[in-house]
Order: sequence, then structure tokens, then C-alpha cells
Amino acid sequence: MSMLELKNIHKKYGSNEILKGVTFSLEKGETKVIIGPSGTGKSTLLRCINQLHPPDKGEVWLDGEEITNKNININRIRQKIGFVFQDFNLFNHLTALQNVSIGLEKVKKMEKEEAKKRAMQELRRVGLENQAEQYPAELSGGQKQRVGIARALAMDPMIILFDEPTSALDPELIGEVLEVMQGLAGKVTMLCVTHEMGFARNVADEIIFMEEGYVLEAGPPMKMFKNPDHKRTGEFLGKIATLYGENKEE
Ligand SMILES: Nc1ncnc2c1ncn2[C@@H]1O[C@H](COP(=O)(O)OP(=O)(O)OP(=O)(O)O)[C@@H](O)[C@H]1O
Ligand SMILES: [Mg+2]
Repeated sequence: MSMLELKNIHKKYGSNEILKGVTFSLEKGETKVIIGPSGTGKSTLLRCINQLHPPDKGEVWLDGEEITNKNININRIRQKIGFVFQDFNLFNHLTALQNVSIGLEKVKKMEKEEAKKRAMQELRRVGLENQAEQYPAELSGGQKQRVGIARALAMDPMIILFDEPTSALDPELIGEVLEVMQGLAGKVTMLCVTHEMGFARNVADEIIFMEEGYVLEAGPPMKMFKNPDHKRTGEFLGKIATLYGENKEE
């Protein structure tokens, strides 16, 4: 049984057909990277997965349960799907620690002290134990994003969705976030929209190339880079490797 299974996902905004039948799955512990041109529906797909904007047609299955089913308790499901945003989405009036612990208290109904302890563990995991009492305004972009990742991890999700987690960061801060994500690979199931081709090449089990609302092609990084089935895949990968470069870990 797959951890996440998308079956023929369709989504329109008004008469604008964005997703035109997207099908793929992730096994437990897998990391998959979605790439594709701007406006192709990558963020829309992530919102269809966490049911923020449910698909018009098609099914999303999480750990053997159909979560597009109308009778499902959506709040229970959202707890199981972590989300890491491009622009962090932290509460500015809360410290790093409080940003991580608030979901544990409010959603998971954990005791304050227990939530704090758990939040501290997750901050340690992303290398921020010394920044726990700082507010977002006192953190760098890379640190803010690591708080965002700690917040997602704290909820013990079945999968974490990342929507361009490093694209709002200064180049010198990207590496620290990718390093944290790389450290999670294999331990956490991750679906990442990212243009970081070094990460895709070194960490992803599979790269999914989306274009105009479809998956044009998906495969292991080696094949996608060296021997793609479609000319468009090779052209796109070449273009973003030039635009974004490869990350420094290579
Ligand atoms: N809430 C919305 N209402 C109407 N149209 C939307 C909405 N969200 C996205 N769209 C449209 O859907 C299309 C796909 O957008 P989406 O954000 O999913 O693309 P993307 O692949 O994530 O692009 P990018 O790489 O720029 O982030 C775009 O044409 C966008 O304008
Ligand atoms: Mg997007």
C-alpha cells in the first residue's frame, strides 16, 4: 500500500482547466521532486492533496484511506499532511518554539509542557535549539524556513509537502535548508516542488516533470537527466540547471 496515491486528479479554476489528470504515488519514506514551468499547476496539485482546494475529479489516497471522500473529517486528515511554504507562514508574534508548539497544543491537545518539550526536540533536529526564544523578525530566512520544517515535523505527519521551500531565500541560505531536508530523506515521506537540481539529483527517488496540467514524464534522476523519454524534459532540466545552478553539496 502506498503512503500517497493520486488517481487521475483534475482541477479547474472557473473555466480554466489547471490539472488534467495527474496520477502517481509515493511509498513510505520516499522523496519525490516535482518540477515544471511556472503556471503548470504544481502548487495547485499540492493544494489538491491536502484538500485545501479539493480536486473536481479523481481520488487522493493517504495510507490506504480515500481522503477525497466527502464524508472524511478534513481536520483529522490535515494533521497528517505537513506543509512547508515558500514564504514560511510563521506567526510573527510567536517565538520559534511557540510556532512549533502551538499546533501540538491547539490541534493535538497536548499539555503545554509536553508540547514545549516536543517542539524543542524538533528545533534541535533542524539545528535551531539556540534560537528557540527568538521571534521570526530576529531569524534569517534560512532559520525561518527551518522553523517551518520543525513545525511540520512536530505534528508527526504521514507526508510533508514542500512548495518551493528555498525559492524565497538568499542563495547563501539555501544550503542549510536543503541540508535539513536531505537529513529527513528516507525517514519522512516527502513530496517537494523545487528547482534545486542538486537536491533532486542527489536526494530524490524520482523526479516528476509536470507540464500544462499533466505529468509529462517521471523517473529516477539519473534517467531524467541523462536519458529522458521526452525532448521537453531534457530541455527543461537543462534550462533550470543553468538558471539555478546546482547546489553546493555536490
Ligand atoms: N486560487 C486560484 N484561483 C484562480 N486561479 C488560480 C488559483 N490558483 C492558481 N490559479 C491559476 O492556476 C494556474 C496554475 O497555478 P499554480 O500556482 O498551481 O502553478 P505553479 O506550477 O505552482 O507555478 P509557479 O511555478 O509559478 O509556482 C495559474 O494559471 C494560476 O493563475
Ligand atoms: Mg507554485
